[in-house]
Amino acid sequence: MTAPLVGPYATPRRAQRTARRRDRRVYLRSHPVLFALLAATRRRPVVRIGRTVLVHGTEAYREVLTRVPLDRTAEGTTGGAAARLTDGGLLFDQDGAGHRAARRALSADLGSGAVARLRPLWQGVLDERLAVLDPAGPTPDGRPRDGRATVDLPTVDLVELARELAGVTTAALTACAADPLLLARAAADAAAATARDHLPGPRRPGSADAAARAAAGLTALLPDSLDAMLAVAAVNTTVAALPRAAAWCADAGLWAGLTPATAPALAAELLRLTAPSPVLPRVAAADATVAGCPVARGDRLVLVARHAARAQDDTPADPAAATQAVFGAGPHACPGAGLARAQLADLLLALAPYRPVVVRARVDRRSALPGYAELRVRAGLPAGAGPPSGPARPSGSGLPSGIGLPSGPARPPGTEAP
Ligand code: HEM
Repeated sequence: MTAPLVGPYATPRRAQRTARRRDRRVYLRSHPVLFALLAATRRRPVVRIGRTVLVHGTEAYREVLTRVPLDRTAEGTTGGAAARLTDGGLLFDQDGAGHRAARRALSADLGSGAVARLRPLWQGVLDERLAVLDPAGPTPDGRPRDGRATVDLPTVDLVELARELAGVTTAALTACAADPLLLARAAADAAAATARDHLPGPRRPGSADAAARAAAGLTALLPDSLDAMLAVAAVNTTVAALPRAAAWCADAGLWAGLTPATAPALAAELLRLTAPSPVLPRVAAADATVAGCPVARGDRLVLVARHAARAQDDTPADPAAATQAVFGAGPHACPGAGLARAQLADLLLALAPYRPVVVRARVDRRSALPGYAELRVRAGLPAGAGPPSGPARPSGSGLPSGIGLPSGPARPPGTEAP
């Protein structure tokens, strides 16, 4: 069913379909067998295959994360990978009082003041890297443009931009003095090397050694090795999420309706539609029942965030739960959600004046999360026209209104599925 396309984001249905189709390719190509299986079984909230339970339903997903005791250090889980590759104590693998204390310590860094403190850093990256998109600017050899040709318009790789943006943010959070791009690459390598270890599927020989080497490379850059998982969590999600959301915006023609007032809701909705961290692998620590399905201690739980967020639906039954699902739920819910939404809103606002179009998109088949290896955009305005106004800025220095609300902001019109 297709909801009517109305309001500031009204765009032709064909454009919406193009956006959805391109993004689906990213998702399916990264882990073709696993994601095809998940797509084929998504109609039921919970599906058992041997000792593996696939959890698709929004309520079932939330139930597992909030009610079912989970074995945080089991092999094949995110926490298990963290515990094995380092000395442990990295949030994902923690539980109870230890976990609560670690979250309290983290909330000082990622709490409400974080966006105001860190925003100037990522705005600096956006200002510097996106200025070249100005179609009225000089050519790389200094000549003025003739006002017609678009072939020589400069392009920006949004994957490299997202890497730098995530690098500077994470370096600031971890007091890391290394080059931000080096830090971001080390975090990506560590995540890619461990992904095969904890996602369901065959493991390559030597992958455990490669994962240990990559983790050591990352921790060597950090003053406190306990920050390794924070760096992995922050960098990989951001590098996957930002280019996918920007590509959706470009393909669906959503730039025109973007203002500081609408960007937060659009950012939240694009994160719901793209679900950058689509699968959470977990293991049950005790017998339980989920959506009527018995779960036994030791069962593998494949929590499909993408389906819990109903990324394929126009109108999820519980929009707030669907919007939150991409960031998990319960005591381990993502503490970086407000930061991630603010970064995406700022990226969209910085891009909007140029009305970028995608000129090259290459899927990354080795990264931990589905994403692009390269996503190149150029200004979509006629050459010589120049941006209609300077890059828009969110008002105030704090969290833009609507970002980080537990219930999730309302979905802007025009982002509906075809
Ligand atoms: C679009 C961006 C992001 C997405 C989609 C995302 C998603 C997630 C998800 C699904 C979880 C697991 C939640 C659960 O088990 O219930 C998580 C955990 C976590 N995320 Fe994020 N995240 C994003 C950005 C960030 C950023 C920017 C940071 C830090 C600056 C961050 C830090 C963390 C940490 C530390 C955890 C572990 C929390 C715990 O186990 O207590 N994330 N994230």
